[in-house]
Amino acid sequence: MRTIPPEHYLALSRLDGFLGTSEGVYDTSTLAAHDFDVDNRTGFMPPQSPVGRLEAYWEPWELILDDAIAKSLQLGDKPGITPAEMSQSESWRWHVRELPVLSISGLIKSETDLRRAHLMLAWIMHFYLPPVLTYSDTVLYNWTLKTQSHEPTPALDNLHSLTLFTGTKDEQEFYLTSARMELRGVEALELMRSTMDEAFIGDDLAMRRIASILVRLATVIDDLKALFTTVREGCNPTTFYTNIRPWFRGADSDPATRKWEFAGLDTDPSFTYPPELSGPSAGQSSLIHALDMFLGVDEFSHAAGLTGGVGPKKSPFLVRMQLYMPRHHRNFLNHLAANPRPLREIVIGAGDATLLSAYNAAVGALKRFRDCHMAIVTAYIIQPARRAAAMNVAGDGAEVDAEAPLKGTGGTELVKFLKTVRDRTATAIICT
Ligand code: HEM
Repeated sequence: MRTIPPEHYLALSRLDGFLGTSEGVYDTSTLAAHDFDVDNRTGFMPPQSPVGRLEAYWEPWELILDDAIAKSLQLGDKPGITPAEMSQSESWRWHVRELPVLSISGLIKSETDLRRAHLMLAWIMHFYLPPVLTYSDTVLYNWTLKTQSHEPTPALDNLHSLTLFTGTKDEQEFYLTSARMELRGVEALELMRSTMDEAFIGDDLAMRRIASILVRLATVIDDLKALFTTVREGCNPTTFYTNIRPWFRGADSDPATRKWEFAGLDTDPSFTYPPELSGPSAGQSSLIHALDMFLGVDEFSHAAGLTGGVGPKKSPFLVRMQLYMPRHHRNFLNHLAANPRPLREIVIGAGDATLLSAYNAAVGALKRFRDCHMAIVTAYIIQPARRAAAMNVAGDGAEVDAEAPLKGTGGTELVKFLKTVRDRTATAIICT
């Protein structure tokens, strides 16, 4: 088993400290606060194209990542990998081990540079030995504009991914489908904010306004679903399952249940074996968490005890996935969870048929979104896995127990987990 060079792992985990783990103190008086790094034009996506390259000092990181991409490195357990491909990967890994240890002190003044550094180190380490990549490294901070534009919100067809493992259009479309959904989700965030403003006023007019906001929210969620289905246009399910998805394998979704080794854990007392090593699941999208929480559906869809994983130590899936989010976005969700006027309670307490039906429409749209998610997961994972099992070959070439339940990138027993989440979403509908 190969090991990750300690100095680069150390640098990445320090960046995590700056980007991901510290909570800080925030103004929680408004949902629109830029403290949460949620922009009113681009939502959880940054308002400007992410930094595409760091200054010259960090060029060794940029170059080694360019090199991995140019060489089209292959996963070591790819079926039919050639000796030339294996030696190419080993030679690249040797260069990683020889990289100079670069200081990150010049980065910590700029959050956008930190994101680029995180993205680079995460991709380098993931090329070296998965899994360390997150949804923010593959989607939120991994885009640029195809054509320069001064529009405040990028046009959905004007996006291009910065970094890919396979260089395929399919991989790019896989990331950009989520990116487009994040941008369409901006209106949902705005509608949530308006609802909270109206809830504060709380009179009859406010209730009527909330009802019409919820009708609009249902339309936005249906649009998210429609955007989701477009993944089928650009990302071929077999290419996804065979060539792309193996790169996302987290420690808890490895079909061969191998253990990852990290060199140099004993070189720094603050270092411990990472307790969490999931791959970059779109389950880390703050947008879907926010919709669930705002509607009060999470209490049903992800009710206590639904870990999706195995073993007693697993926390609920949503809680675990929040650990992988940029910390401002996690704070945003915490703020939403602490809303003193929860929407669902307002709807139940108001006894207003129009409001109730609008709320149910929004919950119904979320259920339809999850039906669509299930259909896509069936086409992109379940069916190719069945075909691979029928041929007695694992889709990613690793030795697997053919009877074992399929694992999601976030480590869940995916079929059971996703069906439960979807079915429980429907139970959040309030009966009249
Ligand atoms: C081809 C595309 C996709 C596939 C194959 C896929 C697959 C999966 C799988 C297997 C899970 C189970 C959890 C785990 O990772 O272990 C999951 C969960 C989840 N995924 Fe996806 N996903 C896709 C796209 C998306 C997109 C675009 C979004 C939203 C931006 C999304 C949002 C979620 C959420 C929120 C969960 C948690 C379960 C829930 O709350 O419904 N997924 N996904």
